[in-house]
Amino acid sequence: MNIDFKELANKYQTPYYVYDFDHITSQYEELKGAFKARKSILAYAVKANSNLSVIKHLVELGAGADCVSIGEVKRALKVGVAPYKIIFSGVGKIDSEIKEALGLGILMINVESAAELDRVENIAKELEVIARISIRVNPNIDPQTHPYISTGLHENKFGVDIDTAKRMYIQCKNSKNLEPTGIHCHIGSQLTQLEPIRESVKIVSDLVRNLAAIKIDLSFFDVGGGLGIVYNDEKLIDTNEYAQAILECLFGLDITIVCEPGRFLVGNSGVFVSKVLYEKVNGNKRFVIVDGAMNDLIRPALYDAYHKVEVLNDNKELSDCNLVGPVCESGDFFAKNINLPQTQHNDLVAIYSAGAYCFTMASNYNTRNKVAEIAVENGQDRLIRRRETFEDLIAHEEEFLK
Ligand code: LLP
Repeated sequence: MNIDFKELANKYQTPYYVYDFDHITSQYEELKGAFKARKSILAYAVKANSNLSVIKHLVELGAGADCVSIGEVKRALKVGVAPYKIIFSGVGKIDSEIKEALGLGILMINVESAAELDRVENIAKELEVIARISIRVNPNIDPQTHPYISTGLHENKFGVDIDTAKRMYIQCKNSKNLEPTGIHCHIGSQLTQLEPIRESVKIVSDLVRNLAAIKIDLSFFDVGGGLGIVYNDEKLIDTNEYAQAILECLFGLDITIVCEPGRFLVGNSGVFVSKVLYEKVNGNKRFVIVDGAMNDLIRPALYDAYHKVEVLNDNKELSDCNLVGPVCESGDFFAKNINLPQTQHNDLVAIYSAGAYCFTMASNYNTRNKVAEIAVENGQDRLIRRRETFEDLIAHEEEFLK
């Protein structure tokens, strides 16, 4: 990544997110290439980073979109994702979302409960349309990741067990308004072990074969997302081995592979840059206080997640500190007990691996404006979301003031 953070800070102020679009391109191409032996769709998990320009960049590379709200579906459509490459997932879809999605001709609705299948069937009947259905199977496999981002165990709220899935496919087959189209499983995020993925794809592919035996032929096998990235010193799953493991499980099945990467595509493209406001020492604890905060990047506070931090100055002498923001919460930190150089007012601090689940999880807590987002592509920078203003923040309330 060859980005001049200081120049961007002068041009756009701080804090900001910057994304290296060339990195996104190479991640996309690496994964797409790994699946080259079969028909495949990489449906970008929009929740990872839903900036329109990020989605558009991926669309131009050929990506589809994995969406978890009608809002995400509309973002994808807005920047040209082909409806036949859009999947709509989520454990709690609202009637109005289902209705709207059915009218948009998307590839499939990924259904996560028997009750939801009934809702979709009723709504499709009302609208006199046929709903293309995929069912999210929960294979009860431990993905060996952080419990908050583990989704493939029965104790997690996601998907349905194998027997329920089978009954639901039979319901689809017998319904005039449902078409069994795909099957889905996603066991968790930031995965660094291949075995749990292989095991779950194996379980789900056995179900696909069972269904074929009763004349339910599915066209799409959605392996979910989850591929991990390096935050610290993780050893990653090799993308070719990943694809190979999936292809082996699907041997002999005439089925298109769908994969829903989010973090893998965008995570390491992003850097969050803030500037130092102050240093202080409480007792013998040193604090470096920057202008970015937990409302901008909540992963350390929420998951105790590690993000590599770098102070952009020439001081070589390091000492222990906590790197914190201005928000009124003790949980407002980016790193604790970390060795950083002495800083001066206005020194920049870069927080890496901030392309996924960082801006999208930002809030306006403490009436703080969401920060600017910048893209760098072929050495050129451009703004892709302007910094919010105070007026933006009060826009939905002002008219109701008495
Ligand atoms: N497909 C489904 C059904 C998902 O639930 C997710 C992520 C993905 C695909 C994309 O997963 P990825 O390739 O990005 O691992 N906020 C958390 C991550 C939550 C992931 C939710 N689901 C974090 O900051 O780590």
